[in-house]
Amino acid sequence: MTIQDPAALTASEQAALGSGADFWSTKQVGDVPSLVLTDGPHGVRRQVGASDHLGIAGSEPATCFPPAVGLGQSWDASLTEQVGAALGVESRALGVDVLLGPGINIKRDPRCGRNFEYYSEDPHLSGRLAASWVQGLQGTGVGASLKHFAANNTEHDRMRSSSDIAPRPLREIYLRAFQHVVQQAQPWTVMCSYNRVNGTYASENHWLLTQVLRDEWGFDGVVVSDWGAIQDRVKAVTAGLDLEMPGSGGGADQQVVDAVDAGELDAGVLAQAAGRMVALAAKAEAGRAVRVPAFDADAHHALARQVAARCVVLLKNEPVSKRAVLPLCEGSSVAVIGEFAQTPRYQGGGSSHVNPTRVDVPVDEIRALADGGVVTYAAGFTTDGSGDLAALREEAVLSASAADTAVVFLGLAAHQESEGFDREHLELPAEQLELLADVVRVQPRTAVVLSHGGVLRLAPLSGIAPAILDGALLGQAGGGAIADVLFGRVNPSARLAETVPVRLQDTPAYLDFPGEHSHVAYGEGLFVGYRWYDARDMAVTFPFGHGLSYTSFAYSGLELAADAQGITASVTVTNTGERAGREVVQFYVAKPSSSIARPPQELKGHAVAELAPGRSARVTVFLDRADLAYWDIRGDRWVVEGGTYEVRAAASSRDIRETAAVEVVGDEFVLPLTLNSTLGEVMATPGAAEVLGALMPMPQAAADNDALGIDMAKMMASIPVGRLISFAGGAVTRDDLGKALAQLNASQA
Ligand code: BGC
Repeated sequence: MTIQDPAALTASEQAALGSGADFWSTKQVGDVPSLVLTDGPHGVRRQVGASDHLGIAGSEPATCFPPAVGLGQSWDASLTEQVGAALGVESRALGVDVLLGPGINIKRDPRCGRNFEYYSEDPHLSGRLAASWVQGLQGTGVGASLKHFAANNTEHDRMRSSSDIAPRPLREIYLRAFQHVVQQAQPWTVMCSYNRVNGTYASENHWLLTQVLRDEWGFDGVVVSDWGAIQDRVKAVTAGLDLEMPGSGGGADQQVVDAVDAGELDAGVLAQAAGRMVALAAKAEAGRAVRVPAFDADAHHALARQVAARCVVLLKNEPVSKRAVLPLCEGSSVAVIGEFAQTPRYQGGGSSHVNPTRVDVPVDEIRALADGGVVTYAAGFTTDGSGDLAALREEAVLSASAADTAVVFLGLAAHQESEGFDREHLELPAEQLELLADVVRVQPRTAVVLSHGGVLRLAPLSGIAPAILDGALLGQAGGGAIADVLFGRVNPSARLAETVPVRLQDTPAYLDFPGEHSHVAYGEGLFVGYRWYDARDMAVTFPFGHGLSYTSFAYSGLELAADAQGITASVTVTNTGERAGREVVQFYVAKPSSSIARPPQELKGHAVAELAPGRSARVTVFLDRADLAYWDIRGDRWVVEGGTYEVRAAASSRDIRETAAVEVVGDEFVLPLTLNSTLGEVMATPGAAEVLGALMPMPQAAADNDALGIDMAKMMASIPVGRLISFAGGAVTRDDLGKALAQLNASQA
């Protein structure tokens, strides 16, 4: 069918299109069909009975893939694309037109309760993983909803709090991943966040929703509110918001119509919003005709297992009696310890909570792969504090001492972290660490498996355990995936997408989180995550990008070539071990001498190399010129600074293997000289010494002023030239100076 021209709709029909019919669907208006939106992002939470946005009421069974905290650790865009496509198939089977994800807010502080729903502390990684997720999903005829736009980095006071951010970090850190996904993957919708951005609600923020998102980035889809994010619909429509969810029983629709009648809201703005809703309905209708495979729950469970295994980071694997603890030998005996091995923690709480089709039990999966080896299980602790802890610990220690290896499952329980509130600390429960210490005392060959949504302080644990696998949250097939990695059926290749700090007190936003009186000052500016620890040269427990393998890799021959589009970097990676493996090759860019504040290095490219033992591959990535740019507040624009750039091929942000340098031609960005330009700025312009020298004596360099003990040239460099008029005692006039500057400006044009 062809859908009606939005201009033919009345104002009240247009307003009606802009709010939900119920919790999850839009209204049918005239011949514009209703469409269904549903959470998202790591599974389809389709509610057909009671509905809510907090994950309380039930939902239809669907595959629970690894939440973003796990998926982000894969660093693998082809994997996120596959997950997106599988979610699309399930969405289609469950009658969903728009799946509410991906969530790509930057993990600014490890305490943010919702970090498990986000990919990384780094915008490059978040943007790349999310763009391919969107492409995978939308290829099945189901729309994405990129969320939460923008700067939604804390759960505390999330519906009022203002994220107060300077322009550079806002653009370079918090908006950059959104920009990438919008421009590369064209999500059908963007979801505006609950919070305010620099004082204005995201839902009412014309700068954010119209100037930046649509005018600068070219977004032509629908902006939908987060559920309940709108406090003034008229202001929201004026700002560029198209769809209020879940809807307000029609009350706000009438306010919109009244505002048009009263001349307070431009009828054209309402018509545009309605037009975008009509276009979305048309996309959904076309999407329903895209052919996709039938949803096969078993096949998706198998895919979820493969994906999850790629998300497990081997943090540490030391030899005990000359042999690394992992992988486990098939046929050997294993003491599996820890309640999470029996009742796995595999997803987070809140709106993203999926009703899984089934859940792998880790200890059962370990048994299934043990190849006759005896596998025992002891809980060791409880997550709710019930039970006789001393007896549980004694039983666990006894089982550990009797086995060849102990595998101890530790982590955070569901109630300790969730959407809706932040954590207060990064600690593992003390009883878990005590249990581990007792186990290691009797069983040196001990590996820890971690389950958690937010970063944990691992220094104490790392001091005890010789081997650690970090599963973060792995979804419903995490148990099988862990077994695959423990036994080496899958060689781990995942990498940390967040730094593990030594202490909470070391973290970048420690003093500003979660803010006060509904304001959060982003005082650390650009220095988020590894950018902070690197700039301050601080020790970390495990760096961003870290992750080991059961094999080893060598890097050689980094070569760079710059052209007008960016830098092409290639490096040879060789598998120097005895097993096939995958290496995540990371490219960090540094600009050693720069006129602006910069993090010491920033991730600008990465690629995955899959190599058989002894084999080499040339890994080539393209570092887009746009990604080298910084946001210049003087011109409100992106600028690539010219000069020498250093590119580092690395196995982690702290494991740089090869470094090379390349010259990059800078952008033409000349600010016109004014009377408020400093003498230093003017003198940096070719010909300035002669032009100004003709008007007045120029300051002398240090060597000529030794007797005075000052460097006159340096001292005067920061004086705006207009102020020199008063120092020159009438020798120079404003007019003379103005003409001289005009002459210099003309010579630059
Ligand atoms: C969350 C969104 C979610 C929506 C619908 C909100 O509370 O912030 O991420 O998509 O609810 O459940």
